[in-house]
Amino acid sequence: MTRMTAPAVVAAKGVRKLPMLTAYDYAAARLAEAAGIDLLLVGDSLAMVVLGHEDTLSVTMEEMLHHVRAVSRGAQKALVIADMPFMSYQTSVSEAVTNAGRFLKEGRAGAVKLEGGREVAPQVRAMVAAGIPVFGHVGLTPQHVAALGGFKVQSKTAKDAAELFADAMALAEAGCSGVVLECIPAPVAAAVTKALPVPTIGIGAGPDCDGQVLVFHDVLGLYDRIHPKFVKQYAALGKSAVDALTQYAQAVTKGTFPGPEHVFSMAPEACDAFLSMIAAAASEETTDQSDPKQPASNP
Ligand code: KIV
Repeated sequence: MTRMTAPAVVAAKGVRKLPMLTAYDYAAARLAEAAGIDLLLVGDSLAMVVLGHEDTLSVTMEEMLHHVRAVSRGAQKALVIADMPFMSYQTSVSEAVTNAGRFLKEGRAGAVKLEGGREVAPQVRAMVAAGIPVFGHVGLTPQHVAALGGFKVQSKTAKDAAELFADAMALAEAGCSGVVLECIPAPVAAAVTKALPVPTIGIGAGPDCDGQVLVFHDVLGLYDRIHPKFVKQYAALGKSAVDALTQYAQAVTKGTFPGPEHVFSMAPEACDAFLSMIAAAASEETTDQSDPKQPASNP
């Protein structure tokens, strides 16, 4: 069984399209792998879809590591990419390398991803020099939600598109194995994809990217708080789950679950002996309590 690696991702550019999906636990990693997804991103979006936060800013290194470990245990072939959480790489190059290293060393990830353009190129360069494969992320970068004023389409003007182009080029030059392009006009993504020597992975960036990424819960209809235009929901598992759980709750209430097929039996002699034992113990206790030799308890 060959495992997907960062160099294999780079080699796939122009050869085949790359499906990437977020995964946050062991079960999801196994399902995604069984479906042929070869890039599993433990996205900081887990802050929202798993932990219930409003945005991605609150998730910590320790929380991310916990989920990265679970995904790594479930992934046999896929490349596990750990998303660096807010403030785990922005403050200094050395902190960035230390935290990225933890994802490989303790989380058993095969790569990390960080958000930002030219301003994070020094971090990318240092991580790559330390042997850590890195993916970039430009366009709508949710960790900048406060500065951006919300989750909005980016690079709509020629000037902003040129800035994004320069950012993506800088990330590739710094050694990124791929760059996520989020929520930008399709022609901008197409131009970046054509120019970049490494794959672009699009999310809301049109069909010309070298790969696509979506959030696990969005694909399966498990998260209903936000419905971005770029999401295609392939199943309505949230609804199926509520239907199934309603049936379970009703069966427990009515006493129809568990049924005979869910029950463990016991040899009738063993059962009779057990019932006699507890009956004898109960009658002994009653006798003891009415024994006049026992000191009466104080009222
Ligand atoms: O955290 C995440 O899920 C992501 C993807 C949307 C690219 O960064």
